Amino acid sequence: MQIATLCLAFPELAYYCLNGMHPARRFLPDVYAKLIATGSYLPEKILTNKDLESLVETSDEWIRTRSGIEQRHIVADDEATSDLAVNAARRALANAAMSIDDIDLIVVATTTPDVVFPSTACIVQDKLGAKNAAAFDIQAVCSGFVYALSIVDKMIATGAHKNALVIGAETYSRILNWKDRATCVLFGDGAGAVVVTRGETPGILASRIKSDGSRRSILNVPGQVRNGAVYGDPFVHMDGQAVFKFAVGAMADVCNETQAAAGVTASDIDWLVPHQANVRIIDATAKRLGVPSEKSIVTVSKHGNTSAASIPLALDVAFNDGRLKRGDLVQMVGVGGGFTWGSVLARWG
Ligand SMILES: CC(C)(COP(=O)(O)OP(=O)(O)OC[C@H]1O[C@@H](n2cnc3c(N)ncnc32)[C@H](O)[C@@H]1OP(=O)(O)O)[C@@H](O)C(=O)NCCC(=O)NCCS
Repeated sequence: MQIATLCLAFPELAYYCLNGMHPARRFLPDVYAKLIATGSYLPEKILTNKDLESLVETSDEWIRTRSGIEQRHIVADDEATSDLAVNAARRALANAAMSIDDIDLIVVATTTPDVVFPSTACIVQDKLGAKNAAAFDIQAVCSGFVYALSIVDKMIATGAHKNALVIGAETYSRILNWKDRATCVLFGDGAGAVVVTRGETPGILASRIKSDGSRRSILNVPGQVRNGAVYGDPFVHMDGQAVFKFAVGAMADVCNETQAAAGVTASDIDWLVPHQANVRIIDATAKRLGVPSEKSIVTVSKHGNTSAASIPLALDVAFNDGRLKRGDLVQMVGVGGGFTWGSVLARWG
């Protein structure tokens, strides 16, 4: 009797409880965000570990065994982060067989924007001639791409947007101290892009994003420009061991949480696409998750750590070499300065 009275008083709430959705959505078809195409761009110049031996006191052997990195790409003097992003976006659009006029949203994940403002996404919007697109940047360091994808998922699933370009693009070579061997050997430049579109079947199944600013001192760029002068060191600083310890646990935990939210388990995962910082972090995370190492996509050896670009770059490599196929269940997971971390689980294509 009491339940019937409640239903009469709050019919919308009753509908929500019975059907798991607001009644206003009952006439809409199910709407999901789907990742349908990738593209990437790497600057022409390659810097090998051997090349680094003449810059700092290091060795190819040290870099390989500690990080798995063999080489990285370095941006040309006349290239900006937006140029890398535009090249990757054009390839993703061509692979999606879409025109730029179809795109109504551009999100660029970057920590190395062209300028303080406007956003790199707005510069990309202009360079692409994307006259129908809203554009904004996400700054979540190496987790930027999973943050961006998590946000775009919601913007598409509400029906507000239809076709998005989600891009990770970085020029870390410009914020590295090339005399600091603890950091300069680990990073590289590049861009990756995905086209995310509205679909009637999943799509992105679940995502989780997290932060803990109290850990900001273990990985940061402490310097800043104030009143036209640089205060503090404008280069990347890192406590490598502290980052390593935190990254493995954070990535494994957020993967487990995202799997639980999607109602899947580690054995359902076809491909784990982790942030590419260090092969030992990738292996330890996969092991902790119970995902066989051959199901991890690993590109860090050729790209170094490209921060927000690393996951879309890895997706593009896996799609082009035929490993990643339509229908595969993909778990992306990132971790980075902030600290930030997060995961997105998606059925591909
Ligand atoms: C950075 C990292 C590779 C260092 O490996 P490590 O095994 O922890 O190495 P350590 O920092 O303990 O340094 C060991 C020694 O190598 C030296 N060393 C540091 N960088 C070096 C380099 N490029 N070449 C040669 N020696 C180096 C150190 O000075 C230290 O020497 P010491 O023992 O005489 O003091 C590792 O900690 C790591 O990968 N951390 C995570 C980094 C990361 O992923 N960051 C991005 C997250 S988004």
